[in-house]
Amino acid sequence: MSEQSEQKVYRGRAGRAHRLSNSRPQGVYKSIDVKPATALIGGYVSGVDLTQPLAPQQVDDLSHALAEHNVLFFREQPELTPRQQVDFSQNFGALHIHPAAPHYAGHPEVIVIHTHKDSQVNNGGGWHTDVSCDEEPPLGTVLQLHTLPNTGGDTLFANMYAAFEALSDFMKDFLRGCTAMHESEHVYRGRYSDRGVDDAGKSFPSAVHPVVRTHPVSRREALYVNRGFTTKIVDMEALESDALLKFLFTHLEQPQFQVRFQWEPNSIAFWDNRCTQHLALWDYWPEERKGHRVTIKGERPIHRVN
Ligand code: SIN
Repeated sequence: MSEQSEQKVYRGRAGRAHRLSNSRPQGVYKSIDVKPATALIGGYVSGVDLTQPLAPQQVDDLSHALAEHNVLFFREQPELTPRQQVDFSQNFGALHIHPAAPHYAGHPEVIVIHTHKDSQVNNGGGWHTDVSCDEEPPLGTVLQLHTLPNTGGDTLFANMYAAFEALSDFMKDFLRGCTAMHESEHVYRGRYSDRGVDDAGKSFPSAVHPVVRTHPVSRREALYVNRGFTTKIVDMEALESDALLKFLFTHLEQPQFQVRFQWEPNSIAFWDNRCTQHLALWDYWPEERKGHRVTIKGERPIHRVN
């Protein structure tokens, strides 16, 4: 490794550690163990039972682990009741109500993720960050899958800090000045009709967000456009916008930014929507895959120069 690249890596790590933790070193947790899934994204968490109320130390450790690994994976958990999943998620913020998806009876914060032989669509089947069409898109999402196909049904997650940092300085500077339209009419209209949802007369959210957002906890910059919801770069001609979005989607969907999670029954994934994207594979038809998703409210994305 050249002297120059050593310095670059060192500067990056030092800056990241400082911004993440205020005082604590990375990777040090008092109440949980975390094993990195890849060098860039994902951490396997053990030593915590998510059906039980969490102590403040556990919430603090999990918050830091999420900031460090961007998506946390929990195995060998019991099946959480909807109430337990809501209670766990509320440790990290108020809960978000999805603008379109049907929810679990009596729990508007709990979305039922369910694909089977008669499904028309697979929830989250393209690269996206959850509900980025909202003015205040969700901070994070907690998904537990109870029923799995014999094989397949993995979820891929990608690190949007890394995708941004891999761009040239010239491109980074240009993108810092851009905003983009995120829409959902094309995503949600009719999407849940196979589950009995009639959305006639309903309107679906749209919002303009910075193309590069500054994460409110880590203060790092992350790319914030996604193939699911982002439809246009504001103030560009259609051809320019289409070409730029095509480039950005191709860039950020490269495998070096990703981790692929193979679910086991009752595994839980807890991801940070502000700095990741994900994609749920539908490679198991006609088998069934089912679980519950709870989403935590976020704040309006901003780009801030640190
Ligand atoms: C989603 O996008 O929320 C669904 C993810 C999954 O089913 O793996």
